[in-house]
Amino acid sequence: MSGKTILVTGGAGFIGSAVVRRIIECGDDRVVNVDKLTYAANLANLAPIEGHPGYAFEKADICDGGAVGEILKRHQPDMIMHLAAESHVDRSIDGPADFIHTNIVGTYQLLQAALDYFRSLDGPRKEAFRFHHVSTDEVFGSLEMNDPPFNPDTAYAPRSPYSASKAASDHLVQAWGHTYGLPVVLSNCSNNYGPYQFPEKLIPLIIIRALAGRNLPVYGTGENVRDWLYVDDHADALLTILKTGHAGETYLVGGNAERSNMDVVRTICAILDEKFPGSPHTPHENLITLVADRPGHDMRYAIDASRLRDELSWEPTINFEIGMKQTVEWYLQNQAWWEPLLSERYDGERLGLGANGSKKQ
Ligand code: NAD
Ligand code: DAU
Repeated sequence: MSGKTILVTGGAGFIGSAVVRRIIECGDDRVVNVDKLTYAANLANLAPIEGHPGYAFEKADICDGGAVGEILKRHQPDMIMHLAAESHVDRSIDGPADFIHTNIVGTYQLLQAALDYFRSLDGPRKEAFRFHHVSTDEVFGSLEMNDPPFNPDTAYAPRSPYSASKAASDHLVQAWGHTYGLPVVLSNCSNNYGPYQFPEKLIPLIIIRALAGRNLPVYGTGENVRDWLYVDDHADALLTILKTGHAGETYLVGGNAERSNMDVVRTICAILDEKFPGSPHTPHENLITLVADRPGHDMRYAIDASRLRDELSWEPTINFEIGMKQTVEWYLQNQAWWEPLLSERYDGERLGLGANGSKKQ
C-alpha cells in the first residue's frame, strides 16, 4: 500500500479535526487519531470522513504512556503530529492544573513513547520518521504595536499558564531532539478561526451571541491585536511542515492578517447586518460591550513566516474578509453542531451562552 500512516493526537478538536479531514480527503495517507475526548473534542467534527478505511480512532489520554506505546506498536505510524492540548487561555487562568498535566506531562509521556517506538524502526522508515509538535505564537510573549513580528529566533517569554505550559512542551520536544536524536520539527502558529471551533473562543462566541442579540463582550479596550489564520490554511501548512520540514527546525505560521479585537468583532457585526437587514439586533455593533480585561492579557501577536514561505513554499490562501464570511455562514448553517455545546456540561453558563446570558459584565 502506498502512502504514509500519520498518527495525530487531538484529532477530535478544532485544528486536529481539520488536519484529519484534510489527510483523508486529499490523498492516499492513512490517519490514526488519538484523542481523550475532553470537553473541547467533538466526534461530529469528523463526520465527513467517518467510516473511511484510511481513518482509525483510538480514545486515549496522552498522559498514559503505556496506552500510547501500545497504540504506536499496533498502528506502526510513519510520522506523529502532536496537537492534543488544553488550549483556552481563560480556562488556564481559572484552573491551570489540567494545562500543566496535559500540555507538559502529556507531551513528556508522548515523547518517551515516541522515542521507544522510533528506536524500534530501521532503514528508510527510521530515516523518514518525524515527530511534529504543534505549538503557538503565545510562547513568545507580548509585542508592543511597533515591535517587529515574532521570528524563529525570538526568545521565549510566555505570560499565561497556557502559554507557559506550551513553552515547556516546546522545550521538552527540542530536548528530545537534541539529546536523544528523535527527529522533531516544531511549528508555532497564530490565532486560527473557521468551522468547528468551540464557542468559548472569540470568533464563534461573538457570532453566536450576536445571533441571540446578547451583549458582545470585548476585553479591556478592544485594542489587543491578533494575527488570524483560516484553519484549513493552518492544516495545509502543518502537513507541508510534517512532510517537507527539516528535522530540528522551527517554522512560524501566520495569516498576514493582524486585526484588533474590536475590528474582528465589528467585521462579524457588519457581516450579520448585511445578512439580516431586518433583524431587531441590526446594527449588531450596538451589542458591543467593553468588559473587565483578561488578567495578564497579551497586547499583540504578529508572525514573520518568511522561513515557511522561502524554504517550504507555503503561504496562506484565504484572506481574512473572505474567511470571516465563510465562517459566519458556517455557524449560521450548522446550529445543530454548536447548540448542544451551550449546555451545562460544556459550561455554557460560564461562557454566557446558557440561560441567563451575561458574560463578565
Ligand atoms: P482544541 O481545544 O479545539 O482541541 C484539543 C484536542 O485535544 C481535543 O480534541 C481534546 O480532546 C484533545 N486532548 C486534550 N487533552 C488530551 C489528552 N490528555 N490526551 C489526548 N487528547 C487530549 O484545540 P485546538 O484549538 O484545535 O488546538 C490544537 C493545538 O494547536 C493545540 O496544541 C494548541 O496549543 C495549538 N494551537 C492552537 C491555535 C488556535 O488558534 N486554536 C493556534 C496555534 C496553536
Ligand atoms: O495565538 C494563538 C492562540 O490563539 C492559541 O494558542 C490558543 O489556543 C487560542 O485559544 C488563541 O488564544 P487567544 O487567547 O488569542 O484566543 P481567544 O479566542 O480566547 O481570544 C482572542 C482575543 O479576544 C484575545 O485578545 C482575548 C479577546 N477576547 C476573547 C474572548 C473569549 C475578548 O475580547 N472577549 C472574549 O469573550
